[in-house]
Amino acid sequence: MASLTIRKLDDGIKSYLRLRSAKNGRSVEEEVRVILREYCEGSPAPTASPASSPAPAGRTAIERNNPAGQASVTLIIGGGIAAFKSLELIRRLKERHVDVRCVLTKAAQQFVTPLSASALSHERVYMDLFDPGSEFDAGHIRLARECDLIVVAPATADLMAKMANGHADDLASAILLAADRPILLAPAMNPLMWNNAATRRNVMQLRRDGVQMIGPNAGEMAESNEAGVGRMSEAVEIAAAAIDILRPPRPRPLAGKRVLITAGPTHEAIDPVRYIANRSSGKQGFAIAAAAQAAGADVTLVTGPVELRDPGGVTVIRVESARDMLHRVEAALPADVAIFAAAVADWRVANEGEQKLKKTSAGTPQLALVENPDILATISKLTDKRPPLVIGFAAETEHLIDNAKAKIARKGCDWIVANDVSPASGVMGGDRNTVHLLTRDGEEFNVDSWPVMTKEQVAAELVAKIAKAVEKNP
Ligand code: CTP
Repeated sequence: MASLTIRKLDDGIKSYLRLRSAKNGRSVEEEVRVILREYCEGSPAPTASPASSPAPAGRTAIERNNPAGQASVTLIIGGGIAAFKSLELIRRLKERHVDVRCVLTKAAQQFVTPLSASALSHERVYMDLFDPGSEFDAGHIRLARECDLIVVAPATADLMAKMANGHADDLASAILLAADRPILLAPAMNPLMWNNAATRRNVMQLRRDGVQMIGPNAGEMAESNEAGVGRMSEAVEIAAAAIDILRPPRPRPLAGKRVLITAGPTHEAIDPVRYIANRSSGKQGFAIAAAAQAAGADVTLVTGPVELRDPGGVTVIRVESARDMLHRVEAALPADVAIFAAAVADWRVANEGEQKLKKTSAGTPQLALVENPDILATISKLTDKRPPLVIGFAAETEHLIDNAKAKIARKGCDWIVANDVSPASGVMGGDRNTVHLLTRDGEEFNVDSWPVMTKEQVAAELVAKIAKAVEKNP
């Protein structure tokens, strides 16, 4: 097998690899392996973004275990009437893109069949500690370790007693004893068993050992005329608790900050049916809005006409023209950070027709153009409500950096994200972007050139820079 020397790759690729591997918390070599695997499988794995993913040590189980973003759970199904709900739990976890491998205790097999667990999980089901098919390489150790989380549902009084006392006389208890992953129990038993002093002791011991629990809930029991605390939590509740463990809360460095963003093109009417527009898709501005929202900011996105869905948790204001956009931006102030990613039309038609222009013998209509207000410059020059950090974009087809420097000075913003929008770059309407971030240090400019990235990655990187700047000047 040929080997690959990363040192000998060209600088652009090396810097892309360094950035991508740092973001994903992998070594560069590991990252290359992931890229090759993605290529062979024909599906690029989503890379974690710097704003939305914590540092390597804090990476989520989902990111750590599986580069394709799929977490995995070993689900131990104990023997109780609630076992039927565990079949639904498999479905709920799969819907949330979690791989599930099931282990059935002997008693569980009285309530659910291995066939149904296997059909729902699309995996073989494990039942015996001494199964020659899996134990040739200590299968119980693999089941305990090759997952991100072990869920026991239903966790019967007997299974909990075994766990609390370190027994390992069947596959389920052996896995639980060998586990070095988080464990989530969903207890289910008769209320008298739940309240029994032995179970109380075991619950306390298990909690002390770091085992997490969901439920049990209060309600009717399967036994007639019995009610109390002991019902297993519903499948959706258990799935949500599992997801919380797999994806711990993200850091929210922009919590409490208001971020205002413009995006998309503007449409400048010629008459009621025609307009002047440009090729902006709005993807970059929308991605920034989503990244800022994920970082905890209160985000308002003022966008021209685009075919994109509202990012979750963002206040979206849809406008048509540059003048509408300016009014809505002004109305959305104050903000801590304003990012002007819109491709605002520089001109509008002075003599907008009230009726549809008709072909007449008078000849071709003449369109007189007048300049639109410059939203970025207007907001940058405000004295009272100027956001402390104003960021513009510079869409250029030539002399990128020089034009961008001139634009910062002319418009009075603090930073500029300069991008090459020449047709060859494929940026306008495309999914990737090559940008340079220009920041000012007094009279000097710092130019930070980023490798080709997806628009989501550019957004995440920009939001990470903003978070750092906000942290320095709260
Ligand atoms: N911009 C704006 N309002 C305008 C024009 C531009 O807010 N009427 C903002 C854009 O959102 C971007 C920045 O100004 O953040 C630069 O836009 P760009 O199109 O690159 O520059 P222009 O000002 O249009 O200058 P030129 O066309 O000469 O490059």
